[in-house]
Amino acid sequence: MKNISLNIDKTLGFVTKEQIVDQASKANAFNATLEKGDGKGNDYLGWLHLPSSITDAELAEIEATAQVLRSKCEVVVAIGIGGSYLGTKAVVEALNNSFDWLAKDRKNPVLVYAGQNIGEDYLYELSEMLKGKQFGLINISKSGTTTEPALAFRLLKKQLEDAVGKEEAKHRIVAITDAKRGALRTLADQEGYKTFIIPDSVGGRFSVLTPVGLLPIAVAGISIRELVGGAVSMEKQTGIDVPFADNIAEIYAATRNELYKSGKKIEILANFHPKLHFIGEWWKQLYGESEGKDGKGIYPASVDLTTDLHSMGQWMQDGERIIFETVISVETADHKVEVPTDEANLDGLNFLAGKRVDEVNKMAELGTQLAHVDGGVPNIKITMPAVTPYYIGQLFYFFERACGISGYMLGVNPFDQPGVEAYKKNMFALLNKPGFEKETEAIRARL
Ligand code: PA5
Repeated sequence: MKNISLNIDKTLGFVTKEQIVDQASKANAFNATLEKGDGKGNDYLGWLHLPSSITDAELAEIEATAQVLRSKCEVVVAIGIGGSYLGTKAVVEALNNSFDWLAKDRKNPVLVYAGQNIGEDYLYELSEMLKGKQFGLINISKSGTTTEPALAFRLLKKQLEDAVGKEEAKHRIVAITDAKRGALRTLADQEGYKTFIIPDSVGGRFSVLTPVGLLPIAVAGISIRELVGGAVSMEKQTGIDVPFADNIAEIYAATRNELYKSGKKIEILANFHPKLHFIGEWWKQLYGESEGKDGKGIYPASVDLTTDLHSMGQWMQDGERIIFETVISVETADHKVEVPTDEANLDGLNFLAGKRVDEVNKMAELGTQLAHVDGGVPNIKITMPAVTPYYIGQLFYFFERACGISGYMLGVNPFDQPGVEAYKKNMFALLNKPGFEKETEAIRARL
């Protein structure tokens, strides 16, 4: 079995190999800090050995619950936001056929999402789409108190109960939340829903390999065993016993921190496969919430290429030189499409006839890499042998481990997110939430 790999050659020239190697002991020491659990945020390290500690029985229970939903439902709504939604969406978009929802002889229920926004039109359209369909709900909230998913669940629970009756609705609702605390735990216990626990020690953005991600991913018909298997292998490959030269999590953490120190404040995660779009969204939450604090942190951005070369390409090539680029490169496409010969050749594309579309894409990727490096953009390349559950599992764990190390190298607590509370406080004050009377008065005075 191959592995995902990392190549930082195209950052040299912007930072030196010596600078990066100088960071080796620091990266290794912070990797050890994760392992020893004596750093900041050490209550939230449950993800570190999560892959290798998932038992067969746990996977079997998730698969059995997924099977119940699969047998009862044409549509399953995964309700959640942030870490309670992005990992699932990343895996399902990457692995499912892009036009799956149009297929007539579907093998899997359609997975749709709610609670990731407060869009009234979105919720209206979702509710209209569900009318007359057999559907179920997976309500995911670690805290159990997040407004967006709570609101969506209130609406959809009512719709489901009205459609199939309270008793049957209970068999189509699964709650994934804290073991003891929160509104969702109380509700689930009262109603008797099937529940799964998100361990206290696993923060939202590190939770994709808990039931948070595994249940909806299994509902979508994707092998969670392969996904976890990939993560297990990466857990071994990024351990503290693996020397810096072979430890891709330590190298990535060290390189991006050196680039940051040299003035590269923005990291753009690029893909050349549109199906990887949500891997970028998941990665942005992971790094943005983990590192953007105390007035510090690389700003994580993402692009889908070549699509965005026709919008962001100009800026990337020629704008302020404060960016570096990390490309997720996929070695092998899943399917084969060859460019046909055209007798008239009015589009002038016969020079490509007989070539695979993926070869054209790969030359676009190489051409872009060289152009961006020439334009002053350091380039890190992560190669995935193929887009499979196994390699996505490797990628997830690699990014998580590197994120812990990188956050410590930056000098922040990578496992908290105090900044996300500010908007909530204002929103509750503006909506007259009981208990926020003082804040309501203060905020009204500002308007
Ligand atoms: O990383 C985090 O912990 C957060 O961003 C959460 O993922 C997000 O706020 C959703 O929280 P919850 O699952 O508690 O509803």
